[in-house]
Amino acid sequence: MPTAPKGVRGAVITGWGSALPPRVITNDELSQTLDTSDEWIRERSGIHERHIGGTTAGLSVISGAAALAMAGLDPRHIDALVLSTTTPDRCVPATSATVQHALGLSCGAFDVNAACSGFVYALTVAHGLIAMGSSKVLVIGTDTLSRITDWSDRNTAVLFADGSGAVVLEAVDGPGQMLSWDIDADGSAEESLYAELGGFIQMEGKDVFRKAVRIMVDSATKSLAVAGLTADDVDVVIPHQANIRIIQAACERLGIPMEKASTDLHYTGNTSSASIPLALVDAADTGKIKKGDTVLLVGFGAGMTAASALIVWGGQ
Ligand code: COA
Repeated sequence: MPTAPKGVRGAVITGWGSALPPRVITNDELSQTLDTSDEWIRERSGIHERHIGGTTAGLSVISGAAALAMAGLDPRHIDALVLSTTTPDRCVPATSATVQHALGLSCGAFDVNAACSGFVYALTVAHGLIAMGSSKVLVIGTDTLSRITDWSDRNTAVLFADGSGAVVLEAVDGPGQMLSWDIDADGSAEESLYAELGGFIQMEGKDVFRKAVRIMVDSATKSLAVAGLTADDVDVVIPHQANIRIIQAACERLGIPMEKASTDLHYTGNTSSASIPLALVDAADTGKIKKGDTVLLVGFGAGMTAASALIVWGGQ
């Protein structure tokens, strides 16, 4: 188990931004072409509507530019771009190269693919870069799952969507925001959720549901233990927005009241890498997260991966 990052150069989030494509697809619209209903989708997933469209690079540029503007930074001062995505625009080069150029950055750029856990992986890597000397890192989580979703398959089409969220991470004197982190993967569960190159997402929904709750709880429990905290110390949870019932079950097992969870899946659907940053941005913009709050980010995804991080909003 990794130890808490004490004694390393810390970082805090100084800007954030998001992007959702303008095209909204409601449950009723899906019901016109699929054997499903608004009632079923709301009850079983919590999703009411989702945003569809655009490219991974295009959405990343919008959220990334918003985060840079909020942080008041000249793009040339960014030291690294880490883009979490499981739906790159091309095999080669990494989509981060396109985004780096479009945003006017002059720094290293690379993609991270850990499916829906990817943003927390990327955020952890970005803290590591700052610990090793970088000053300002742009972290973006973007997915365009609509491009790998079979719109005639009701098992998956009701869940997945597109979006992007971004944060700027800046070095600070002192310990910064990160209390602890955890990244996990279990490749033996690969067949539960996958898409072949050029193919559509294939999913064993019930199996993923069961595993998701367990691995989210395991990962969050590890991060809490490393930080020396209990569930009572968590002010806000930013969970992966896959299914409201998964979030409820995980919160219940962790002993964290649902009111502490930030949820936006009713209007975003499951946007994979964008899910956690979109919920984080939503919570920050609506005042759900306040300075000094202890925030638990926790996700799971294909792989099956899981990741969590405990941060103090605004720094310790
Ligand atoms: N609309 C209407 N009915 C549907 C349906 C849909 N979109 N999908 C399945 N059904 C039917 C099933 O055929 C089944 O019918 P039956 O009782 O006659 O056999 C019934 O609804 C219940 O299906 P079930 O699969 O048991 O539903 P569920 O409560 O497990 O919910 C998921 C299905 C997919 C929403 C849920 O399992 C889930 O969210 N799993 C995790 C998926 C996930 O998070 N993936 C991304 C990971 S990053």
